[in-house]
Amino acid sequence: MCGIVGYVGNREALPILIQGIKCLEYRGYDSAGVAIINNEQKLVIHKCKGKIVDLERSFPKNLNFQGNIGISHTRWATHGKSTEENAHPHTDCTGNIALVHNGIIENYKKLRAMLKKEGHRFVSETDTEILAHLIEKYYNNNNDLHLAVQCALNLVQGTFGIVVIDRANPQKIVAARRGSPLIIGIGNGENFVASDVSALISHTKSVIYLDDNETVEITKDRYIIKNLENAEIEKEISSVSWDVSDISKKGFNHFMLKEIFEQPESITNAFRGRFMENLDTARLGGLQLSANELLKIKHIQIVACGTSWHAGLIGKYLLEDIARIPVKVEYASEYRYHNPVIPSDTLVIAISQSGETADTLAALREAKARGAKVIGITNVIGSTIARETDSGSYIHAGAEIGVASTKAFTSQITILILLSIILGRMKSISPMEGREYIEELKKIPDKVQHILDKNDEIREIAKIYKHAKNALYLGRGVNFPVALEGALKLKEISYVHAEGYPAAEMKHGPIALIDKNMPVFFIVIKDFIHDKVINNMEEVKARSGKIIAIANENDIAVEKLADSIITIPKTLSNLSPLLTVIPLQLLAYHIAVLRGCNVDQPRNLAKSVTVE
Ligand code: G6P
Repeated sequence: MCGIVGYVGNREALPILIQGIKCLEYRGYDSAGVAIINNEQKLVIHKCKGKIVDLERSFPKNLNFQGNIGISHTRWATHGKSTEENAHPHTDCTGNIALVHNGIIENYKKLRAMLKKEGHRFVSETDTEILAHLIEKYYNNNNDLHLAVQCALNLVQGTFGIVVIDRANPQKIVAARRGSPLIIGIGNGENFVASDVSALISHTKSVIYLDDNETVEITKDRYIIKNLENAEIEKEISSVSWDVSDISKKGFNHFMLKEIFEQPESITNAFRGRFMENLDTARLGGLQLSANELLKIKHIQIVACGTSWHAGLIGKYLLEDIARIPVKVEYASEYRYHNPVIPSDTLVIAISQSGETADTLAALREAKARGAKVIGITNVIGSTIARETDSGSYIHAGAEIGVASTKAFTSQITILILLSIILGRMKSISPMEGREYIEELKKIPDKVQHILDKNDEIREIAKIYKHAKNALYLGRGVNFPVALEGALKLKEISYVHAEGYPAAEMKHGPIALIDKNMPVFFIVIKDFIHDKVINNMEEVKARSGKIIAIANENDIAVEKLADSIITIPKTLSNLSPLLTVIPLQLLAYHIAVLRGCNVDQPRNLAKSVTVE
């Protein structure tokens, strides 16, 4: 999704603005641009289709980009193709006001028609451009940039994170937010604004998270936050816990690979300090739910998107089995559009790595509006979902930069296991069972490491299947969502068509696809459903499909049937997704690399989807 950076201070703005959007590249984009008020008090703009390196290569030599205030942007096309004209920043008719925008202006057609009638001229197909003209309109009336932004935004329906500069106010940035994240970075004699903390942390760790319908005027020494009615607001300054090293590759070829390899540590970070050994249970301090409130939970509904939705599906298996509470898992994008039934005593859980996914946010707001208790499972501290849920639990996975989510997934599952233990111990499982889960969970990081040590072996298997055009992923029980996740990983980064299915469902359709060219990835661990999965493997074998099995060591039945096997250590069935997904992440990674794909920034995808 789009990325925004703004700077005002004493330093040269351009390198800061370019480096800032480079930190946001991982979010996905297709054009980029920058605007600066230079030291001759001129507004200079440069933008282009493509990547930031293309922008850097094509800076016009005849323009002076030296100045201490500016804005930059990476655009992920929504309204209008990826072209230079549609790239941000956009300007008003006078060419004095420039702005960048994330989000979608829903009533832009009406506003555009109105502004055209008033004589405004448009040069792009974007919804964003109308904002520059609307601000111009009000600025002409009141000569106050901050007020003009507020007046303009009062007419706007939709979502925005915007940052505005004006040639006539060369010391001031005005920014505003509704629905799209925006963070102020507070420096010493300089200030920043960005859509994501990763663009700020090399300059400052002191940040203010803007909330919806807040606007801010920022100069190098101060900031004034107001609401859209122009009343001043006091906000808390937060400290970012991430480090610059969190957003470097640390010697790995790709962020995705680094993040896969970080999982022994990120899983540990998710459960560290969260066991109550004396009571054979766990605790999630951030939940802020009393024992009484926990006991009252009769239903759970999970809302999420993408990989987080798969974690939610695993959560269903865990919570229903361990805590005996019925769980519904919903695509967040569908939730509010089907008039959801939320029985009393329902706990709604919003799962989101970024904490900014627009659909998940909308779903949790719907649940809250209907009176449900909503908790969040998020990674990004201070993110909108973390702040808008009643309470929640951070997964503490550290920055996840690869667009294809890996370590966040296993950390989300870890939190769901802890929640299942907490609720399970209150409702159904014995101290012995609670203790067994805890002891087994503690062993998981070493077992993950054991699988990661097979990376070379997994790369060799990837070589065999790198030319496949389709792939099927099959698993049962708690490993069915892992099959979905394995398929998602492959299609996201290698563009191979892949589908995940419950293994037994194969014979109701996908079996028609199986021939000698079809790789079928089976998750077949030694649990109560093992023999049934072996039957499904037989069915594939009988049709000459190629079987790649994720199985436990010394599984003779699997050895007889599989063309390739990646073995994983044994653990409790309910904890097995933490292990079974690791080879699938690595397989997808290697297949994508072997096919020459851009693993960290796959085409058309965005890390954090902040539009509906
Ligand atoms: C995008 C990303 C996925 C992610 C999904 C949900 O589609 O590309 O990797 O799983 O959003 O994101 P969230 O931040 O809410 O977990």
